[in-house]
Amino acid sequence: MSNIISTIDFNSTTTCNQSNPTHQTHPHNPMDTTTAGKPSNGHRLVFLPLPYQGHVSPMLQLANILHSKGFSITILHTLFNSPNPTNYPHFTFLPIPGTGDELHSLIDLKNILRLLNYINADLVDPIRVCLNRLMLEEDGVACLITDVHWFGTQSVADDLILPRIVHRTSNISSFRSFVAPVLLRDKGSVRGCDEVKSEASVSRLEPLKDKDLPKFLPNDPEGKYKILELTVKGIKQARALIWNTFKELEEHELEALSQDFPNPHFLIGPFHKFFPASSSSLLTQDQESLSWLDKHPPNSVLYVSFGSLVRVEESQFLEIAWGLANSKQPFLWVVRPGSVEGSEWLECLPDGFLERIVEGRGYIVKWAPQQDVLAHPATGGFWTHSGWNSTLESICEGVPMICSPSFGDQLLNARYVSDVWKIGVKLENGFERGEIQSAIKKVMADEEGLEFRNKIVNIKGKVNFCLKKGGSSYSSLEDLVNYILSF
Ligand code: UDX
Repeated sequence: MSNIISTIDFNSTTTCNQSNPTHQTHPHNPMDTTTAGKPSNGHRLVFLPLPYQGHVSPMLQLANILHSKGFSITILHTLFNSPNPTNYPHFTFLPIPGTGDELHSLIDLKNILRLLNYINADLVDPIRVCLNRLMLEEDGVACLITDVHWFGTQSVADDLILPRIVHRTSNISSFRSFVAPVLLRDKGSVRGCDEVKSEASVSRLEPLKDKDLPKFLPNDPEGKYKILELTVKGIKQARALIWNTFKELEEHELEALSQDFPNPHFLIGPFHKFFPASSSSLLTQDQESLSWLDKHPPNSVLYVSFGSLVRVEESQFLEIAWGLANSKQPFLWVVRPGSVEGSEWLECLPDGFLERIVEGRGYIVKWAPQQDVLAHPATGGFWTHSGWNSTLESICEGVPMICSPSFGDQLLNARYVSDVWKIGVKLENGFERGEIQSAIKKVMADEEGLEFRNKIVNIKGKVNFCLKKGGSSYSSLEDLVNYILSF
């Protein structure tokens, strides 16, 4: 670790833009860092999250966990979708210059491949400058922890002789299928990245079906393959992987994965259970949701949310609405502004729908305090897009799920929820009001729903155990801390 003069101004503060209720981009002086509190073990970790809600949240949670173990923390972040530093006065925040407008224009999911190419090519030099500067400060840098998608930073870390550890925000099961095209091709299979829709099982990846293999938008098989190949290479070169999952849930998958990735793996999740409900939301959460839930009996409300990225067609939105209406079940529904193609918010609901259906037994919000909603006694089911954070949060609160996966790891998470862990159902035909209505009945009212609940409550018990002294995640965290201190 370098031991040169610190240039951090420990007294400076960062001004936050609190006025924008949706996208929070917090203005910084591009080369100004702020911090509070000095490190207690003298080792600094630098984190680099991908600028999406589902990636920023677990990375900040991980940073919090390692801060509690005595590390000082610097968050290297993009200007667009930057975390709110006022929620983390104990961290230092360092924005990467020039990561506002260009990134904003690529943030839509249909541009994901362009975004990944851009951040791993054009942003590598600015990141090098930032890291170089941090390494020259008194604390130096003990380790760089990046999202796996920042594979371009491996060469920077190598040049600077800086250990790099990667964090994958999904679980291990879905990660295996994510990298499957590269691993299968390496092993002589020609499956590649073609979009396949068959029900056939994927050899060596059971219970996955061909149709579960992740899709990227847009459909660009070769572009996708190249990115995947670079990601796999970047992971293999990293010192270790950190997972937001726990051993009891994915022991067999870990064994299988370790054959292809022999690096050390640290399973220390669920991250969000280390601390009270997190403040890492990039959007403003509607707290009225909780008082609305207070008026309902236990396990009576279906919570509906499709995360921070999924967008649906107007026709799909209407099927969702009619499925909810016909189910006769109370519902708390998150409709993110802009998540319905061609609409700002709720304009395409049929005339009278809000008055006749929603006012009676529903509540629609733009963004909810999800962890609190799932922990609320009134919440009896979660209709989710099966993002990993949402799935894990639901498991931790013992809430059975209805899964409507859209892309990426969501397809795999949904398959595991329905076919392996058996803690929910998957809508196999997209959004269709009849199937929705019967899935809601199954999860909220039928005997099968009770079985889902018993199983998920059992897993919830394992979560509580793995976080206690001697538990698997507790021990893995100790191992991780010692591993980093050994650099
Ligand atoms: C993305 C991908 O879609 C997901 O598949 C991947 O695993 C992570 O990156 P996202 O779509 O946002 O994430 O889903 P998810 O992983 O479930 O994360 C959403 C987060 O937003 C959760 O932590 C959830 O608690 C939070 N959230 C969601 C809210 O706070 N309020 C809401 O109303 C909805």
